[in-house]
Amino acid sequence: MNRPRHIVLTGVSSGIGLSLARRLSERHRLLVTARHPGDALGELIETRPDITFLAIDQQQPEDAASKLAEAIEARGWDWVDNAILNAGTGWAGEPHLEPAERLRDSLNVNLAAPIAIAHGLYPFLEKREGRLTLIGSTAWKGAGAFAGYAASKAGLHGFARALREEWRGRVSVQMLHPGPVKTAMHAKAGFDPGWIRNLFLSPDDMAMMIEKAAARGPAFQNLTHFRYWNGAGLLGRNL
Ligand SMILES: NC(=O)c1ccc[n+]([C@@H]2O[C@H](COP(=O)([O-])OP(=O)(O)OC[C@H]3O[C@@H](n4cnc5c(N)ncnc54)[C@H](OP(=O)(O)O)[C@@H]3O)[C@@H](O)[C@H]2O)c1
Repeated sequence: MNRPRHIVLTGVSSGIGLSLARRLSERHRLLVTARHPGDALGELIETRPDITFLAIDQQQPEDAASKLAEAIEARGWDWVDNAILNAGTGWAGEPHLEPAERLRDSLNVNLAAPIAIAHGLYPFLEKREGRLTLIGSTAWKGAGAFAGYAASKAGLHGFARALREEWRGRVSVQMLHPGPVKTAMHAKAGFDPGWIRNLFLSPDDMAMMIEKAAARGPAFQNLTHFRYWNGAGLLGRNL
């Protein structure tokens, strides 16, 4: 049995983050964030006393990072073993029609906030040679109708590459790029994938692949259908 870890997880009110919170709270101590907990997370917290919820808005990156660092100290944690920065948002449509505030939201929530949060987490992660896992998207290389979102994830990929070198030997940095997942994110972005949504992976299956990749620690990995169906994403230990 692995020892209980101190895990920070962002974006837990729905989708992949909620599935990760369910999985990881079976064995570990969690500090989780979103703007609001939502009913499903509220029910989970009632049964799992080792989850602490913190409301932060990643549209305010520095504020979110400092509140999170304060909450880690308030919880009495000297260190963090794993941080999984999963919160994300997007907008879909003709790139030149993307409203400026939606583009700003994507860049703040998906890029500026994870950078600020990573900086704030460094002293806690460094104490135990912890691991920072950044959640990107296979869309980072470019995806029809998701130009601003792709830019935010591509920026995060560049940050991960640099940080991996800077923090080598002190904190391990990895970036995981999920393929399409059956969550509310597409509807929130104003995008209807149509019948093809039936082929998307479930949030529970993606959470399982993320946990196993976080345990193995590859620097960069695409978490796609292909990895799921050929079994590669399901192998190995959990955190
Ligand atoms: N679904 C896919 O097909 C897919 C594919 C590739 C990558 N991803 C990535 O996977 C991650 C999780 O996405 P998901 O599909 O699970 O979407 P989701 O169900 O919409 O969950 C997104 C989470 O991010 C949080 N979030 C959004 N804006 C926030 C803000 N301003 N401040 C704080 N938290 C905020 C949301 O909380 P609130 O309640 O506060 O909104 C929610 O908990 C994202 O990084 C996404 O880019 C998803």
